[in-house]
Amino acid sequence: MSNLDLTRGKIKIAPSVLASNFENLKDELILVEKSGADWLHLDIMDGHFVPNISFGPQLVDTARKCCPNIVLDVHLMISYPEKMVKEFIDAGADIITFHIETSSDFQETVKMIKSMDTLVGISLNPETPFSAINSILNQVDIVLLMSVNPGFGGQPFIPSSIDKIKKIHSYIEKENLNVLLEVDGGVNIQNAEEIRESGADVLVAGTAIFGSDNYAKTISLLRG
Ligand code: DX5
Ligand code: ZN
Repeated sequence: MSNLDLTRGKIKIAPSVLASNFENLKDELILVEKSGADWLHLDIMDGHFVPNISFGPQLVDTARKCCPNIVLDVHLMISYPEKMVKEFIDAGADIITFHIETSSDFQETVKMIKSMDTLVGISLNPETPFSAINSILNQVDIVLLMSVNPGFGGQPFIPSSIDKIKKIHSYIEKENLNVLLEVDGGVNIQNAEEIRESGADVLVAGTAIFGSDNYAKTISLLRG
């Protein structure tokens, strides 16, 4: 059972495994957990919904075996997510996030994920307006705001994401929803404070953490 704490406003740091050194994957995952990571963020790319291919359920299973207690935050950047949901949950996912831009039936996919006792996240690309998801926010546990175009790690944070974070955060507050706001892409120790202050609850960071020489220090700076 993972340590799932969904308290809003308590910052969580989710290192993106995509940026880790795959030659030493096991050591990397254990080290980043020991360094204070709250969640492990696993980016699943299919070469169709996004122009890149990453990894599948096998790697989620490996992460689960290396870190039995950490929250596994699976970010599906794939077409037809409903076809793969069960495999990722069987592999150990605690959270399944899929994109609103996929052509899947939102209600059906949410129902499927919830029926397997797993948290649901909905993600939106930088060009997708918040209005595409505000009416369904009460059905999810997490909103994953993309602050880069999905597909690759190491891209710069898109500055207009700040206003979107503020907008989503104030909507969550106003409606008093039990939803965490997660920000993904280009997060680093320079921009983390502004992102936190704009209302993010969870910061995903790949390059900033795995590209640093002290994971614990970087995670604590990101957390603020
Ligand atoms: C992008 C992914 C991100 C990415 C973050 O498609 O969803 O999670 O790996 O990496 P950095 O922190 O390097 O931008
Ligand atoms: Zn991601």
